Amino acid sequence: MKTALILNGPNLNLLGTREPQVYGSQTLADVESLCERACAANGFALDFRQTNHEGTLVDWLHEAGRLQAAGTLAGVILNAGAYTHTSVALHDAIKGTGIMLIELHISNVHAREAIRHHSYISPAAKAVMAGFGVNGYALAIAGLAGMQ
Ligand code: DQA
Repeated sequence: MKTALILNGPNLNLLGTREPQVYGSQTLADVESLCERACAANGFALDFRQTNHEGTLVDWLHEAGRLQAAGTLAGVILNAGAYTHTSVALHDAIKGTGIMLIELHISNVHAREAIRHHSYISPAAKAVMAGFGVNGYALAIAGLAGMQ
């Protein structure tokens, strides 16, 4: 059974209390449970992580590259939070490892402030999911299954 690696970046640990009108009222633990169910339904094991640190995300993407080379990784679903809009390092890590990666946003970033309209992740991603609320995680897991 291959693993779906789901990586969450800065401030996503605040889900549930952070701007609920934008991100909803479900917590990160709720999102992890939702992902557990979606992975079980699609035949994946789940590895679900969150960090507020850019370099940790880079290290995890490198780890994903090694797991993909070993044939144990289905792919990565990355909600890089605000690093989406700032991080050349994350772009380079995705390109440098050649991992299959889906970019995910809970909100529709294109309908929000202009600072959220540019993504350094999108040009390196296989697909992009945005604006479906936290249910986007389940949709992205199903999408990953369709790409195997
Ligand atoms: C986000 C959108 C980003 O612009 C923001 O900085 C986040 C969350 C989302 O899931 O909608 O932290 O990635």
